[in-house]
Amino acid sequence: MTVKVTVTGAAGQIGYALLFRIASGHLLGPDVPVQLSLLEITPALKAAEGTAMELDDCAFPLLKGIDITDDPNYAFNGTNVALLVGARPRTAGMERGDLLSANGGIFGPQGQAINDHAADDVRVLVVGNPANTNALIAQRHAPDVPADRFTAMTRLDHNRALSQLSSKLGVPVTDIKKMTIWGNHSATQYPDLYHAEVGGKIAAELVDQDWLKDTFIPTVAKRGAAIIEARGASSAASAANAAIDHVYSWVNGTPEGDWTSAAVVSDGSYGVPEGIISSFPVVSRNGQWEIVQGLDIDDFSRGKIDASVKELQEERDAVKELGLI
Ligand code: NAI
Repeated sequence: MTVKVTVTGAAGQIGYALLFRIASGHLLGPDVPVQLSLLEITPALKAAEGTAMELDDCAFPLLKGIDITDDPNYAFNGTNVALLVGARPRTAGMERGDLLSANGGIFGPQGQAINDHAADDVRVLVVGNPANTNALIAQRHAPDVPADRFTAMTRLDHNRALSQLSSKLGVPVTDIKKMTIWGNHSATQYPDLYHAEVGGKIAAELVDQDWLKDTFIPTVAKRGAAIIEARGASSAASAANAAIDHVYSWVNGTPEGDWTSAAVVSDGSYGVPEGIISSFPVVSRNGQWEIVQGLDIDDFSRGKIDASVKELQEERDAVKELGLI
């Protein structure tokens, strides 16, 4: 069966890195035909058409068709997988309230369109920042869709954490299991080495604590800014890759003996208030994310998780005050 995948912000830089990998079978698997739906704002439709022309020119065997539109109701009609990438970036002089309002104006109507038109099995990944809170806004506008179908991306942070630890220890990334990003996709996120394992040993015991606290955590949390500094543009190919990883794991499952990180609707696990969209250690079974249960959280980790969750609560309260949820 052909799977319909909607990508918003399709003409942007992440869109350009993402669409070709979706069309070549990396999002869902090498045997799954895809229909692409590209949603853009009106001024960017022409650029989206250019990208679609290039997609055509790849003659991807799995790509069954491409629609391009500026109408969310049309873009999400019958959608099975929605990748919400397009967002309003923070510009100079913009206060947090302005940023949240501008994004509420995007993610509210998109959530509503998903509610009204998407397929029953729709799965939503929000990439556009502030990703967790944008996902919350979309989810609250889609009361008929199970809340757990709305997720936000922390897989890029997860992959960054794997890579930093791998180079520190001189081990392949495949030797590292059970990495976790907790909290918000922001500088307050908490990459946790106290549960990560390398060759069966706890990662935090293989590195010195100064490195863990003063180098590893800030390097992972501030990697986005370091990429902008070096590249002159924000991470795009790595963000697209992480979106591919997130959906692939969600649909096809996570390997036994390992987990990954995703921002999902909290059920109250680990003291994270119910209803906010926060990153957790998760496994995917039968196409559903489950929060890994029963981990001991030490005082250091507790403080870090609480600080990031507090930021998420503040964002939630701010969008509530603005009438966006
Ligand atoms: P970009 O500026 O190159 O592209 C964004 C695209 O979204 C533009 O083509 C724009 O026309 C479109 N757009 C804006 N409003 C829209 C709407 N209402 N409907 C449909 N399309 C709309 O930005 P880029 O680099 O592709 O990044 C996209 C987002 O992803 C940003 O918010 C960025 O901060 C975020 N991001 C998130 C990461 C994560 O780990 N969660 C990592 C990297 C980026």
